[in-house]
Amino acid sequence: PANVGIHALEYYFPSKFVDQAELEQFDGVSAGKYTIGLGQTQMAVCDDREDINSISLTVVQNLVEKHNISFKDIGYLEVGTESIIDKSKSVKTVLMSLFEESGNHDVEGIDTKNACYGGTASVFNAVNWVESSSWDGRLALVVAADIASYAEGPARPTGGAGAVAILIGPNAPLVFDHGVRSTHMNHLWDFYKPELASEYPTVDGHFSNTCYIRSVDACYSLYTKKFSKRYNANPEELIKMENLDHCVFHAPNCKLVQKAYGRMAYNDMLQDPENERYAAIKEYASFAHSEESYYDKNLERAMMQFTKGEYAKKVIPSLYAATNVGNMYTASVWAGLSSLVSSASDEELLNKRVGIYSYGSGSAATFFSLKVVASTEKFRETLDIKARLAKRTKVTPEAFVGYLALREETALVKDYNPIGDVSDMAKGTYYLQRIDEKFRRTYLRA
Ligand code: ACO
Repeated sequence: PANVGIHALEYYFPSKFVDQAELEQFDGVSAGKYTIGLGQTQMAVCDDREDINSISLTVVQNLVEKHNISFKDIGYLEVGTESIIDKSKSVKTVLMSLFEESGNHDVEGIDTKNACYGGTASVFNAVNWVESSSWDGRLALVVAADIASYAEGPARPTGGAGAVAILIGPNAPLVFDHGVRSTHMNHLWDFYKPELASEYPTVDGHFSNTCYIRSVDACYSLYTKKFSKRYNANPEELIKMENLDHCVFHAPNCKLVQKAYGRMAYNDMLQDPENERYAAIKEYASFAHSEESYYDKNLERAMMQFTKGEYAKKVIPSLYAATNVGNMYTASVWAGLSSLVSSASDEELLNKRVGIYSYGSGSAATFFSLKVVASTEKFRETLDIKARLAKRTKVTPEAFVGYLALREETALVKDYNPIGDVSDMAKGTYYLQRIDEKFRRTYLRA
């Protein structure tokens, strides 16, 4: 099959949020730390009514309804998540309850885990399935979903929650570029979840930011080589970031994304330091990829300044969900792509290339790209992210902390009836009804 890529995207976020400026005040940190320092405006909040199964059920059912797809037409379904509530049963098998009525049980794929990277790994598996001898002519569906919450402390404002469903098949409007995926994986303890009964990670925040940037270097420089070899008349002449019309990043916080984009320019400059266009940042060439280059604040600031205009044009449109919902772990980068196609016009997207950087702690990261080959009007119509976000309910920081305490108390309990208010949930949202005496969970739909 030719032109394998994305046919549809659906994005779910919780209907409650906390305001980051109010959270700054509540936490007693200086005004601007979360909103300017981390680039976060609002953060999605979940009480005990939502879990990984409910948000995944919602996003799949909404996608199928909005796009009028039959469950019979889906031959592959994989879930990428790090919100683990069962060590054996996959979220994918819970989603099979939606297929029951159609009679279709012939659906390959299960769950994939590695921090924020699982959704991207699942997308690659789905693309590989469609392009392989296993393909039976049907569509593949990927769910990238997580509830991200942190213990009290500096990481807490970088939580959030969301789920993205990604429909994959041949002859798509968004087509993945062949042979250019560039990956960097290694063994790190930057962020992990060794406490199985807790939703909270063990995180070395500043170290994880550095790990993220190191992987940008490794993945992006390899991508420029692979892309040039495959698509350039002169493979020795490496492509530069100008070749990418838009860039989408995994967004633990929006400031880190701006630093990552600056770092791409730094990599370009190191390839060609004498080029006139790098005159303003050439003085940093001597840092090369030294250890110091990851900690020098002047270098970081200079790269952000150098890319400021391009960042506003090519990156900010994809950060709408990230700044208003927060980190969504596996869903983050796919919510970024959803934000971009939900707001950009055909003129801005048609025949344009989108670079995508996915990072999951531990670590696994890939830089890859896709090309927009047909109108994305359907994406704009069905995603409608700005209008839907505007309908959410704001809760106070006190209420937010109360919800987290409730989630802590009720994590992995049995014989439990959730108490969260479901009256403000968006129509079509699944929520947890009960966990019975054998830990079996049941759901209802708002
Ligand atoms: N006004 C404006 N900016 C401010 C203010 C203020 N009042 N106060 C602080 N800042 C700036 C700081 O200068 C800093 O900017 P810089 O990064 O450009 O230097 C930024 O705000 C953050 O301040 P820090 O003091 O560095 O923040 P802190 O150490 O408290 O926490 C951190 C930040 C480490 C990112 C924390 O939120 C965290 O641990 N997050 C979770 C880990 C994470 O997301 N890692 C990313 C990759 S892994 C993953 O995806 C989970």
